[in-house]
Amino acid sequence: MAEKILMNLSQNLINQEILIDEQNQDPFEKFSNWYESATKYEINDPNAMNLATVSANLQPSTRMILLKEYDETGFIFNTNIESKKSNEMKSNDLVALHFHWKSLRRQVRIEGKAITLSNKEADRCFKDRPQESQIAAWASKQSEFLPNRKILNKRVYHYENIFNKKPLKRPAFWSGYKVIPQYFEFWWDVKFRLHYRIAYKQDSNRWNKFMLYP
Ligand SMILES: Cc1cc2nc3c(=O)[nH]c(=O)nc-3n(C[C@H](O)[C@H](O)[C@H](O)COP(=O)(O)O)c2cc1C
Repeated sequence: MAEKILMNLSQNLINQEILIDEQNQDPFEKFSNWYESATKYEINDPNAMNLATVSANLQPSTRMILLKEYDETGFIFNTNIESKKSNEMKSNDLVALHFHWKSLRRQVRIEGKAITLSNKEADRCFKDRPQESQIAAWASKQSEFLPNRKILNKRVYHYENIFNKKPLKRPAFWSGYKVIPQYFEFWWDVKFRLHYRIAYKQDSNRWNKFMLYP
């Protein structure tokens, strides 16, 4: 039985080994490759990722957000800077991001430090949003208690009216964060749960690459 499993596995593993050897890349290049595949093969939101924060009293919390853009300096997302997540990042800037691309059977885990975007960067991101989403950003007091939905609707009408007459600018409470990674882990599915896990840990200015047991 064990022999049969190993025979079944061998070809799969050989293919995966080739993949690793071919991809002697830094973690950003590797992320780029995987992200590109996700944009082709995921049915929706390939940029959806989970953000984990830890509160001042050490309670973790997670939520889905959208990756706005990334480069070798980090991963950017937008949000309300008075939200629960933002308040948690004010007291603890260490966070984790997690992508799961179901169609590709892959996940990427990232750990790092969150820094607030500059006003210039936040303005640029806000400008990219459809007008309706800009109005929604004004109307939402993200993560605050909402007694009923009518109140939110009223706030939407209110800002729609204001911005019919004036150009839309970014609310001071809407911005975003850049997560500067210190650790990456790339995981992909192999039969019988013998998955691959390739990790990169930052050490001064270089990335140390290593494998982990599945
Ligand atoms: C697929 C998906 C994408 C989301 N993208 C964002 C986002 O980019 N920014 C954001 O603030 N909330 C986003 N949300 C909503 C968050 O999950 C969350 O409800 C909200 O940010 C409030 O979280 P908080 O109370 O922990 O701050 C998204 C939700 C889903 C399901």
